Amino acid sequence: MTVPHASALFDAVDPAVLRRRHNTKWFGAPEDVLALSVAETDFAPAPPVMEALERALADGDLGYAPPDAIGLPAAFAAFAGRQWGWHPDPAAFVPVSEVMVGVVEALRVLTAPGDRVVVETPAYGPYFRVMRETGRTLVPVPLLHTADGRRRDIEGLRRAFEQGATAMLLCHPHNPTGHLADRAELAAVAEAAAEYGVAVIADEIWAPLVLDDAPAAGDGTDNGGRDSGGDGGGSAFVPYATVPQGPGARTVVLTSASKAYNIPGLKCALMLPVTDGAAAALGGLPELLPYRISLLGVLAAQAAFAQGDAWLAGLRGYLRSNRDLLTRLLAEHVPDAGARPGYVPPAATYLSWIDLRSVVPDGVPVAAYVEERSRVRLSDGEEYGAPGWARLNFGTSAALLEESVRRMGTLRDGL
Ligand SMILES: Cc1ncc(COP(=O)(O)O)c(C=O)c1O
Repeated sequence: MTVPHASALFDAVDPAVLRRRHNTKWFGAPEDVLALSVAETDFAPAPPVMEALERALADGDLGYAPPDAIGLPAAFAAFAGRQWGWHPDPAAFVPVSEVMVGVVEALRVLTAPGDRVVVETPAYGPYFRVMRETGRTLVPVPLLHTADGRRRDIEGLRRAFEQGATAMLLCHPHNPTGHLADRAELAAVAEAAAEYGVAVIADEIWAPLVLDDAPAAGDGTDNGGRDSGGDGGGSAFVPYATVPQGPGARTVVLTSASKAYNIPGLKCALMLPVTDGAAAALGGLPELLPYRISLLGVLAAQAAFAQGDAWLAGLRGYLRSNRDLLTRLLAEHVPDAGARPGYVPPAATYLSWIDLRSVVPDGVPVAAYVEERSRVRLSDGEEYGAPGWARLNFGTSAALLEESVRRMGTLRDGL
């Protein structure tokens, strides 16, 4: 569906406002640098989110959040039904302050110190850090990258499981590549995990930002079971919980409104045990965990999931168009990098994963080099385990995106 004025809404990013923000992305960035780094968008929050926050401020509603997160689990469950035809039980959710807090706590109850945990690489940087924080050993299994795009290495996963990994951190959709697994790929992961008794922690924080719509219902495809009532259309996202989990599986899903609705500073996420085995393990979570959420986070996320479908549909359309614009701009301005054969435009997220090895001299840190020459700030691939690559955040106005990639054209002059 089209949302009236959606693109005007997202075009309206004002660089002066961005530079007044105190977020990690913009705060302290030099005046002449455009920041396309940290995973936050530059857009104004969705109107229902702003209304919920303004109401809370007007009422001085800034106390402790009830540990059941009020109506948030039910709002998310209804959202999951409308968007993806998935109906989790609202009573089963455990509210947590962040997805990464949920990852840490899930690792603590599902695995033991020293255990081997599989992470597919390149990987979201904090995945490496939480393994150190929890004393687990990260076992990298690279995503496969071929001329046809990316896919999971099921044989590689099986080998890692066979060699004794006890858990896997599944990033679905995948940061930094934007890879979106289909049902068959997820089912193959679940089958292997069940076979080897490997716990799966599925980080689905990016799920609402799958950029392409689901095929129409009734055509024999996966997502035909979506509930009616949403005005935002459904996406091609397949929740990991909806593939067969196999006997004895221990599966936990983590989700949040923070990426899609751009409220990561409000500290609120949800953890869900998907299987009986996981529910039993989560009985060992710290008793105070759900008390550590923020009330503003609960209110904002509840408003987002309950009333944000139309805004989200507009956002996804805008990001889809930015993604396609970026593919064209890279081909024009940085042809040796992003657009050379092998560049895979993301199916989800607002992140583009770019190979800059032919543009940046060997051994030179990519992000620092690009920022110095082009005055554009990217995230360095080294943080994701891939030196020479960079992650570009296109969650901004088309105008700022275009200006940024034009600036990156200067990289060619250094060759
Ligand atoms: C895959 C993934 N998981 C988790 C997070 C962080 O979520 P939170 O702030 O809720 O810990 C991010 C942020 O970019 C992410 O990309």
